[in-house]
Amino acid sequence: MDRIRIVGGHALEGTIAISGAKNAALPLMIASMLTRDTLTLENIPRVADVGMLLQILSHHGVDYSVDGRRPGDDPHASRTLHLTARDIVDTTAPYDLVAKMRASFWVIAPLVARMGEARVSLPGGCAIGTRPVDLLLMVLERLGAEIEIESGYVRATARNGLVGAEIHFPKVTVGGTHTALMAASLAKGHTLITNAACEPEVTDVADCLIKMGAKIKGVGQSTLEVEGVGSLSGATHSVVPDRIEAGTYAMAVAMAGGDVLLERASPDHLGSALEVLGQAGAAITINNEGIRVRRNGAGISPVDVETAPFPGFPTDLQAQFMALMTKAKGNSRITETIFENRFMHVQELARLGAQIRLDGDVAYVKGVKELQGAPVMATDLRASVSLVIAALAAKGETVVNRVYHLDRGFERLEQKLGRCGAVVERISGSN
Ligand code: EPZ
Repeated sequence: MDRIRIVGGHALEGTIAISGAKNAALPLMIASMLTRDTLTLENIPRVADVGMLLQILSHHGVDYSVDGRRPGDDPHASRTLHLTARDIVDTTAPYDLVAKMRASFWVIAPLVARMGEARVSLPGGCAIGTRPVDLLLMVLERLGAEIEIESGYVRATARNGLVGAEIHFPKVTVGGTHTALMAASLAKGHTLITNAACEPEVTDVADCLIKMGAKIKGVGQSTLEVEGVGSLSGATHSVVPDRIEAGTYAMAVAMAGGDVLLERASPDHLGSALEVLGQAGAAITINNEGIRVRRNGAGISPVDVETAPFPGFPTDLQAQFMALMTKAKGNSRITETIFENRFMHVQELARLGAQIRLDGDVAYVKGVKELQGAPVMATDLRASVSLVIAALAAKGETVVNRVYHLDRGFERLEQKLGRCGAVVERISGSN
């Protein structure tokens, strides 16, 4: 297993190109199953989760090709994928595939909508909480599917097709909203979705579905209306820039100091995080190329933060922000409201000298003068990158183990940081 070695204490200077958003790319790839035609997706990030989802989609009969690099292209340019689900050859998504990646459960929506049946393994627990799928199943039931659960599998059937309905989410859910949009697009009649997620990744999926011929109103808002159509067609769509990647590097700069342009980052998608970073002492400026983040020697101020659905502070930046707060000049309070157990990074940050006390869904962080490098372990994607952020400002050497978590969602992190002056290297190895 690869490891990442970081020697802290080097300010970051330069430009980081922000990749396409993993959390938009995955549902967009799944949306390709809604049509017999080819869906072309540009700006697909080179992350492990994309590769894993391609395997899963292939299992269902999706053919794909990846554009090669042309002479003169940036060697690090993101990829273009062509996905064609001419015929769905298998409506079962088996445990060994779904267990690898939770988002693959979302294949249930296009399978039922297009084929009238799906048998998809329950995804099971994961490192950040129990993460049930009850609301996704509620969506399909509302749209007329029969749901049975047997031997760890969900069987959803709608032999005569799905039918539009009213869907109210008691809790904002990104995956639930993706499921509702995809399924309702091919359902007969009108669907009204209330308390829908407004995350930019949901909007990106809705925009792509509209290009494919779906009739969706209210995109970007919490009430969505969908008028089902008989079939969808192919389209070309470019994946939105990754706001979580951009927010992560913004926090890295706030932590390590320096001056970095986050190229292509969209400020509209990062409002609350940028505001909090400003309060913490980073200087944020927006220009045509992206977001510029600077911090001089003035130090980091403590800020209290509570995660919330978009446009609130994203849970996917909570661990990174906590890393930043470990070196703040005072105490801060971080409340996690989305996932009940998303504090796996706390123990590992403590290994670097952070002082954090947990009480239910609140972490109390007491800023320390200095963090000290140490061997640490990545536990999930965002937790891993929080360790990288802490390591950038820690004294001495930190080795982050189990880097495969990072590779699931961050494209060439060590190269992006390395080019800005961080001392960071990947060590290939078997332990
Ligand atoms: C998406 O997960 C993202 N994953 C997550 O990013 C992100 O943290 C999360 O949205 C919240 O923004 C992808 O896009 C691939 P939810 P999702 O349904 O859709 C509860 C990362 O690091 N809930 O919005 O699975 C759930 O337990 C990942 O990139 C139910 O109770 O999250 C949670 O408390 C991690 N029943 C809340 O809703 C359900 O049926 C929000 O979850 C579904 C969800």
